[in-house]
Amino acid sequence: MASFLYLFLLLFISTLPPPSMAAPTGETSFVYGGCSQSKYTPGSTIESNINSLLTSLLTSSSFTLYTNFTVDGDSDGAGDTVYGLFQCRGDLKNVACGKCVTHAVAQLGSICLDACGGALQLEGCFVKYDNVSFLGVEDKTMVVKKCGAVMGYDSGGLARRDAVLAYLAAADGGGGYQPFRVGGSGDVQGLAQCVGDLDAVECQDCVATAVGRLKADCAAAGWGDMFLGKCYARFSHGNVRPRAGGGGNENRNDDVEIEKTIAVIIGLIAGIAFIVVFLAFLSHYCDKQRGGK
Ligand SMILES: *[C@@H]1O[C@H](CO)[C@@H](O)[C@H](O)[C@H]1NC(C)=O
Ligand SMILES: *[C@@H]1O[C@H](CO)[C@@H](O)[C@H](O)[C@H]1NC(C)=O
Repeated sequence: MASFLYLFLLLFISTLPPPSMAAPTGETSFVYGGCSQSKYTPGSTIESNINSLLTSLLTSSSFTLYTNFTVDGDSDGAGDTVYGLFQCRGDLKNVACGKCVTHAVAQLGSICLDACGGALQLEGCFVKYDNVSFLGVEDKTMVVKKCGAVMGYDSGGLARRDAVLAYLAAADGGGGYQPFRVGGSGDVQGLAQCVGDLDAVECQDCVATAVGRLKADCAAAGWGDMFLGKCYARFSHGNVRPRAGGGGNENRNDDVEIEKTIAVIIGLIAGIAFIVVFLAFLSHYCDKQRGGK
């Protein structure tokens, strides 16, 4: 499977506090990201195809919550065709969706530099592109699982949690397509989201799988997240899920980290350049001294 080629940046995940589910603010908070291991040579056709694909995604993101694009390669078809999509969380307004996708595309550009494929899940949106076709392909590979601390549920609390999960996992009575599902019972809230390229049957299957794993793996936890390749499900009991404190802030922290890294690299280069210049000066000076004798 293509997903095995993805090198997930678990480092990012483990350094960020778990996200808050309900807060309308944390939409640009990082959940997970990964890049394909295959790289293209800068300046190649695939690079410009990826750029035009990402631009198309950006442009659409203020009009719709889901879209897909394919940019065809040269007629020789040497792996230059690229595929991409974004999916915003079903409760986002177009403005928030556009903001989230803009953020995701910018982050993909820096973490997946020269990669033929990349995927990034933020709290409010998912963006993926690849030169291997993945559109319309169901993918139930587990990408991120997080369970909160075990909670002393009373039997009523556990029953409410299970009812919320059952509601998320249930197919819509009318058989309609429901890529975004929210449910709540008392102090338990739950949410599920499919990527829009799945059809109703695949989406149902994916969400049911995510909910099943959530129930099994985060059995007594106060909150849980289960992100599969093409869908996710999450639940939270009351306020036990640690608050993200606003995605804007987190992403600013991310940016600060990247800026710090860049500053260190620039510092190193400047340091090396200084030493080289200094040594050159020294040898020149020594030569002169020797010449003067
Ligand atoms: C994707 O691009 C890479 C690098 O150009 C290439 O090696 C690979 O074969 C391509 N994959 C497909 C499915 O075309
Ligand atoms: C991709 O987009 C096209 C046109 O926008 C649409 O007809 C098609 O169904 C979409 N494919 C998937 C897999 O979502």
